[in-house]
Amino acid sequence: MQLIDGNRTAKTIKAEIAQEVKNIVAQGGKQPHLAAILVGHDGGSETYVAYKIKDCEEVGFKSSLVRYEDDVTEEELLAKVEELNNDDDVDGFIVQLPLPKHISEQKIIEAIDARKDVDGFHPVNVGRMVIGLPSFVSATPDGIVELIKRHGIETSGKDCVVIGRSNIVGRPMSVLMSQKEMNATVTVAHSRTKNLKELCANADILIAAIGSPGFVTADMVKPGAVVIDVGTTRVKSTETKSGWKLKGDVVFEEVAEKCSFITPVPGGVGPMTRVSLLKNTLLAAKKEIYK
Ligand code: GUN
Repeated sequence: MQLIDGNRTAKTIKAEIAQEVKNIVAQGGKQPHLAAILVGHDGGSETYVAYKIKDCEEVGFKSSLVRYEDDVTEEELLAKVEELNNDDDVDGFIVQLPLPKHISEQKIIEAIDARKDVDGFHPVNVGRMVIGLPSFVSATPDGIVELIKRHGIETSGKDCVVIGRSNIVGRPMSVLMSQKEMNATVTVAHSRTKNLKELCANADILIAAIGSPGFVTADMVKPGAVVIDVGTTRVKSTETKSGWKLKGDVVFEEVAEKCSFITPVPGGVGPMTRVSLLKNTLLAAKKEIYK
């Protein structure tokens, strides 16, 4: 079994991005600028946004954070989105999800200018991705594709099972794996899928994006398969200072013995998601997707 080291790969890509930023600035260009809107104080969201800001500093991007309390109105948020859409200094921005229940996430996502939607959640970007046009691709699936490519994993003609059909991970992941670049034969499994165990046990590449800790056990994995664990559920723990730790969707110890490649949690997909947001921001700054 070979461990897919997301931390190491992310570090390499960050160094590539940092070099490119240096070159842009040395040539008199503008520092890429990522903005983030964070509503409320959800622990997970706070952590992710803090990481995103730290990542920006590491590669030489400018970053800005706009914070609101839980009682912000949809109108206030839409007004801020519009302001960022029109701010020429901001190359791309994200609205951290989830949002409070009284705000329509879909309405907010659709209000973001697709040219600044570095999360790749806007229907225009999703649609362009599906038909193979240049687009901002959702960071987690994009990071997984990068991990697979940089580890020289063969995907052409392979049977790939994606468990989960979320707009952010499962659905775009399944599309990317079936496209000409990857050429896998893809099945999307979900809560209504029959014979899930058998289906998974026949997969050459198994991508688990369910959000259910320890869901994938060794009996669900084909010997020699490639296993990508997208799960990042925060569970209470007495082993860490913070009082919680991240658990993947895969029972790592037993599955690792059986497969050819596996991503750990933490240190697998997570760091690559963060790096893909930086990649998208750089693409936005260089106007490479939308000329
Ligand atoms: N919440 C969980 N993951 C993400 C993400 O990638 N982007 C945003 N905006 N919110 C999230």
